[in-house]
Amino acid sequence: MATFAELWESLLPIGRDDGTGGYFRQSWTEPELRCRAWFTDQAERRGMAVERDGNGNLFAWWAEGKGQAVLTGSHFDSVPGGGAYDGPLGIVSAFAAVDVLRAEGFRPGHPIGVAAFVEEEGARFGVSCLGSRLLAGEIDPDRAAGLTDAEGTTFAEAVSGDLGPEPPEDYRIGRDDDLLGRIGSFVELHVEQGRALDVPVGVAGAIWPHGRWRMDFAGRGDHAGSTRLEDRHDPMQPFAHAVIAAREAAERHGARATVGRVRALPGGTNVIASQVTAWLDARGPGDEVVRATVAEIRERVSLAAAFHGVDFGLSAESYTSLVDFDADLRKRIVAALGGAPVLPTAAGHDAGILAARLPTAMLFVRNPTGVSHAPEEHATEADCLAGVAALAAVLRDLAAP
Ligand code: GLV
Ligand code: MN
Ligand code: MN
Repeated sequence: MATFAELWESLLPIGRDDGTGGYFRQSWTEPELRCRAWFTDQAERRGMAVERDGNGNLFAWWAEGKGQAVLTGSHFDSVPGGGAYDGPLGIVSAFAAVDVLRAEGFRPGHPIGVAAFVEEEGARFGVSCLGSRLLAGEIDPDRAAGLTDAEGTTFAEAVSGDLGPEPPEDYRIGRDDDLLGRIGSFVELHVEQGRALDVPVGVAGAIWPHGRWRMDFAGRGDHAGSTRLEDRHDPMQPFAHAVIAAREAAERHGARATVGRVRALPGGTNVIASQVTAWLDARGPGDEVVRATVAEIRERVSLAAAFHGVDFGLSAESYTSLVDFDADLRKRIVAALGGAPVLPTAAGHDAGILAARLPTAMLFVRNPTGVSHAPEEHATEADCLAGVAALAAVLRDLAAP
């Protein structure tokens, strides 16, 4: 079997921008489809049966033993300009951990699965962790089916793109109780995304509550030169207030708030925009903190919009409450590792969504730069190998005969 480094290298060129070194692997676009083909190939090389659920999530099964499976894995899709590790490290490490266990002659008492969840970042259809949300019944399937990307393609169209004109009857978008019932626990390995881990491997304690809100500003398009300032209905003005208000409200409430995406129409240098849409990401240590932060932003931006004669609307696109990972599973994992630091994270994960339905846990691999969702995201090979060894130890324990 290939070494971890060989496995990692085989995936690394896919979706990379050779200019910036950043990645864009958007769900069901060419790079992500190549990653999915890589997944199937790796599963087949190991004699693992590949299953695809109605939401497009992939599973590779080492179907030995009986009872409920131990599932591991992560996601291939990335944010625009993302790093190499966020997501793929968990999938590559999962196959590498299977290889470690097989090399030592381990015979699992429970099936072991490797998962690749779709649209974790929500970079194409707007809702994060869409594949795991659907599997767990944490989003209305009709709403998910109708979500559109920038070109107007719906999630339903994208998810069935590889299924031909008549998808099998059991390939239906939405909660899959049969599949969930076959899984006893899910352990996701992930690159650490902050600066809090100073040893190679840590264990997740909790995920901060986090959500996304869409902000719509409707003004009036006009001429940038001939329109007097007092006659304008310029939606860029309250939008600019929103960016500042997000930062100030986050500081006041001890939260994090970010406006990382904006679309101004029609988009001419010498044109006052008629419409601005921007997205707010807000997170904090508790649900009340996030609620108060967003409420303050809404209030301040509403005032600015009224002053400029612009219509303003703010609507939630997704929200995930505080996730406290299963305490018993966490204790067992820390013990299987012979001790490990437990740390919270402000990043969202499929493990946080599945936590609503089954015991879940996460392993974090140190990121020396602390940078994530950017090309500088990194983990050393030695730390990645420590992550594989830790994941193998966890699987050995949880799938013990
Ligand atoms: C996913 O990485 C998120 O935290 O947004
Ligand atoms: Mn991410
Ligand atoms: Mn991730």
